[in-house]
Amino acid sequence: MSGGSFSDTAIERLRGGRVLALTGAGVSAESGLATFRGPDGLWEGHDPATLATPEAFARDPKTVWKFYAARREAAAGASPNPGHRALAVLETELGDRFLLATQNVDGLHERAGSRRIVRLHGSIWRIRCTRCGDEYEELDLRASARCPCGGRRRPGVVWFGEPLPADAFDRAAEAASRADLVLVAGTSSIVYPAAGLPEIARRAGAWTVEINPQPTALSERVDERIAAPSGAALPALVEAAALGAS
Ligand code: OAD
Repeated sequence: MSGGSFSDTAIERLRGGRVLALTGAGVSAESGLATFRGPDGLWEGHDPATLATPEAFARDPKTVWKFYAARREAAAGASPNPGHRALAVLETELGDRFLLATQNVDGLHERAGSRRIVRLHGSIWRIRCTRCGDEYEELDLRASARCPCGGRRRPGVVWFGEPLPADAFDRAAEAASRADLVLVAGTSSIVYPAAGLPEIARRAGAWTVEINPQPTALSERVDERIAAPSGAALPALVEAAALGAS
């Protein structure tokens, strides 16, 4: 599928301005990872409230742990796709003019090389003990659900009803308010506060572009829509701006 045709405004602002990219589960779809909503989505047939809330974990920790263990296994077996890699190229080319804010917890942006990244919803590769608070990076798929202190371990992701990690939203909102261009890729734009970032940026004068094969809750409020998969559109953008060639 074609990567769509970006406007001159988007390309100019990418070349010379401050850029915020906001991503969601859709950018990992072409890596074979399920999104949350829609047919075959992770929430299809599940009420997120039974899997992704502190109450669900308190009630049935084994089921919640198993759900996230399966997602860790799927993510470990997946590889970054051209969309992830294009965002890493943008970071290399733009330096401190660029920030990536992601709702994704799968680690694929990091594996593609992104470092200027704000993880709004945490990471499945971080584990935290609910009793002693010990938190660490855990790449072992057979990680024990029990801490040596006897407490239960939980994934380091943000669940519904929980606050975002300290500073994460502030950092993303600050970048949104200073951005000249915002690229919103692979998100249904219905989970707040992340979904509010493009509006913050737009009010402050940014040009907003949505990259998503399907229309979303945001579609009517962006300046430009690219109806294409991010794995095609983001590399096409890098190429159109003549970045990443050297
Ligand atoms: P969703 O599953 O809600 O939305 C995924 C979006 O990706 C949809 O709009 C799809 O049309 C789009 N999409 C699918 N394939 C794509 C592709 N190849 N390229 C570009 N877009 C594509 O996922 P999120 O918006 O990330 O939160 O969901 C937001 C939050 O809701 C998640 O972080 C998670 C979930 O509940 C928590 O768990 C707290």
